[in-house]
Formats: sequence, structure tokens, C-alpha cells
Amino acid sequence: MRRVVSQASPSLALIKYWGKRNSGINIPATTSVAVALDALVTTTEVTESPDEREDSLFVDGERDKSTGLRRFFEAAREAMPDLPRVAARSTNNFPTAAGLASSSSGFAALAAAATALVDHSADQEFVSRLARVGSGSAARAVFGGFTLFRAGAKNAEQAFDPDHWPEFRVVVAAVGSAKKPISSRDAMIRAAQTSPFFSDWIDVNESLVEEATAALASRDLERLGLTMRRSYLAMFSTMFTSVPPVFYWLPKTVEVLRVAEEMRSGGVGVFETMDAGPQVKLVCEARDLGVVVSSLKERVPTAEITESVVGGAVSFAHDDI
Ligand code: DP6
Repeated sequence: MRRVVSQASPSLALIKYWGKRNSGINIPATTSVAVALDALVTTTEVTESPDEREDSLFVDGERDKSTGLRRFFEAAREAMPDLPRVAARSTNNFPTAAGLASSSSGFAALAAAATALVDHSADQEFVSRLARVGSGSAARAVFGGFTLFRAGAKNAEQAFDPDHWPEFRVVVAAVGSAKKPISSRDAMIRAAQTSPFFSDWIDVNESLVEEATAALASRDLERLGLTMRRSYLAMFSTMFTSVPPVFYWLPKTVEVLRVAEEMRSGGVGVFETMDAGPQVKLVCEARDLGVVVSSLKERVPTAEITESVVGGAVSFAHDDI
């Protein structure tokens, strides 16, 4: 029986995907620009299970019964009619569903492993298109380095490889590990349907993408950082103005944001972003990493700190058992 083990790192959006043109298959309404986080890893083992009645996925021991997963396997079988029945087990070295982008690495790893059961040489674009059906951000997590996922596109692409900016660092400050109150999928649909600012959010996106891409090309942290902040804060304004409002922030979230603001005022190059959860991700360069981490540890001692460099692409190994 064939078995594949794959590994993927989550994709942290610097410019956010928030809203869908087609909600069934996760065609994004905004272009996102992202980076792979090396320190966080999802490992997925997929085995061929011809005796099972349905495909299965267990994430950290818990069965995934989501519609996203069902759609993923439907799309996988449509694209690969020879795909056998699949039993998958996935583990994360970080909290699942708490706003650390576990669905991005989860579906990227699952898509790569399921594809490799059938075809060891499938290209990353194919895997990215399949991963997207599970979760939009997973289309990006197939690639390493810095990625671009265009509004309306079916797959993401690499913008800059993992070695492009060797001093680039991300510090994740996890301030809560509870499961989030509403999924990013439901929250972005609610924002699109009810926030009066959603059309402004869509309108501003492309200019932020251009600015961030130029900043990445020239490795200009301040230009990138200021643009990243505009993107996540605009995204949250669509959440705050949804009906009913979507509120992921915790008191400690705001404490971390204040510490970042104070560090910036003191001349440290550090800029934060956030996703659909309470965690804060801070971007800086290697020379400021020490001061960023020590300030956070001193001022918000209960935050769980993870440091990361830029990560690589999804990888897999296969054997027969
Ligand atoms: C805030 O990729 O989790 O993290 O496509 O519905 O599965 P679905 O959504 P998901 O949303 C990611 C939203 C975000 C921003 C981002 O990663 O670009």
C-alpha cells in the first residue's frame, strides 16, 4: 500500500486575502502577498485505504468533518480519477485553528501528499490549485519564500524565493490558544455581505499589493511594514463593522500592539500583522530580533513567542507499506 508523508509551513499574509469571488471553491476577491513561516510545520501522512468507505483526515487526533474537506476530496478525484481512498493524519507543531494559519499548511500538505499518491512529479501549480479548494490561503503555502495569489486566480505563484531576504524575520506572539469563535471562512463571508466598508477594502487592495511587492523587491522593511499594517487594519475594519461584528482581539493582543508601537517610536524596525484570531505576528530584520523578543517577553510575559525565518516549499517522501 502506498504511503506519502508531507510537510508544509503556514503562509502568513502580509497583504490579506479576505473575501471570495466564488465561495464554493475559494476564488479570492483580493490579491494576497505572503511569506512561508519556517518554524511552524504541519506534517501529514496519507495512506491508500481501499477498504475504507470514505476519505478521512484526523488533525492532531481529531476528525475533520468540514465541508471544506469534502469539497477538497471531490476536487482531488475530479482532477485525479485514479486517486485511491485516502486515510490522512496530520499534526501541527503549533495550536490548530487559533489564527496561526493552520488551514494553509494543512491543506497544502494534504494536497501535496494526495497528489503524490498518484503522481510524484505533479507541478506546484497543480498542487496549489487543489490546496485552494480546501482553503484559499493553502494555495500559497505550497510555495516557499514570498508568494502572490491574485484576485480571481486559481493558484498562487512564487514572487521571491526563500533566499531573497535572508535577514527577514517573523516573531509570532501567541496570546490565546482557544479555538476561534468564528472561522475565517464564515467571517469573510459575513463581512462581504454586511460591512458597509467591504467595497472600500476591495478597492484599496491592488495599490497595497503594488506597494508591498515593490518593498519586497527592494527589501525595504519600513515601506513593507507600513503597507502591511494598512492591509490588516483595513481587513479588521470590515470585521468590526460586520453585522453582527466579528471580534477576535483579546486584551493581550492590544498589549502586544502597544509594545510594537513603542518599539517603533524608539527607532526599532518592527511592524505587525494579524489574521482571523488574537495572535500578533511581528516582522523585523535579524539585527532587531533580540530587542523585539526581549521587549515582548518582558512586557507580555504570558505570550508564547516563536521566531521564524522564511520557509521553503511543501515537501514529501513516499514509500510502500
Ligand atoms: C485572515 O484561507 O483560512 O488569514 O479560504 O475560507 O479557508 P478559506 O479561508 P482562509 O483565510 C485566510 C484569511 C486570513 C488572511 C490570509 O491568510 O490571506
